[in-house]
Amino acid sequence: MYRSILKPGLFDGQLMVVTGGGSGIGRCTAHELAALGGTVALVGRDAGKLASVQEEIAAAGGQAHTYACNIRDETAVQALVAQLVAEHGAIAGLVNNAGGQFPSPLKDISQKGWEAVVQTNLTGGFLMARECLNQAMINGGGAIVNIVADMWGSMPGMGHSGAARAGMVSFTETAAFEWAQYGVRVNAVAPGYIASSGMDQYPPAMRDTIRAFPGTVPLQRFGTEAEVSAAIAFLLSPAAAFITGTTLRVDGGRPNVRPGMPMAKPAQPPEAFNGFHLAARPRVLGDGDA
Ligand code: ADE
Repeated sequence: MYRSILKPGLFDGQLMVVTGGGSGIGRCTAHELAALGGTVALVGRDAGKLASVQEEIAAAGGQAHTYACNIRDETAVQALVAQLVAEHGAIAGLVNNAGGQFPSPLKDISQKGWEAVVQTNLTGGFLMARECLNQAMINGGGAIVNIVADMWGSMPGMGHSGAARAGMVSFTETAAFEWAQYGVRVNAVAPGYIASSGMDQYPPAMRDTIRAFPGTVPLQRFGTEAEVSAAIAFLLSPAAAFITGTTLRVDGGRPNVRPGMPMAKPAQPPEAFNGFHLAARPRVLGDGDA
């Protein structure tokens, strides 16, 4: 069973919906929430990937169900949430994690490519959140966590994604304000350079750039999927009961680097500072990539 840093039984009997649950941070988050007693609804486009995560969770003694759905499709999202409510009753938590983009300089992005990325990373998350609110959470509260990205300053080579993620931060803030009256908290988590299958989206020509990422981060390493899923679980939990509208960065301090200001190397290898937690997670980043 996946070892969470949080309290066993934290989400006992609660339905947690995780979009993009078939791989990467979504998969790890599904393991985390199931290990904490939640019943996980794995949502994604690829039924095969969802089924394999479901099997992993079941083998570990957790509970998960799969729902193939394209979150860009409003009618499909409405039907999905209706099905979730019919099968499980209340929805306690939604992790809006599904996302995707392709690397390209802005000047080469077509309207079609731009709109596809905005639909996946912004519109789809809005549709999932709106339907979970209207069909379920409006009656008994809940918590929503939107997964965005470290796009502060800029997101070179991923401008469409950066624009969509920045939009999601604004959506998070407005939803937090408008939905507080229903007992619904809405927050975001912004992962930085995470050793995750998401890194596979970069072309092979960028391998050297990717290997250099840890040197650009004050904590001098990649983050792990489990460090992101722990932040998500915290925001979903009663430990965050007075937190809404915030974006929690999980990025080793990357946006706090100041050009021209030298960065001190850590006194020990980065792993030595939190080895126990690093050992706790399923490992990713296409073995040997970094
Ligand atoms: N993951 C990436 N894109 C997705 C989409 N459009 N629907 C569901 N999951 C996704």
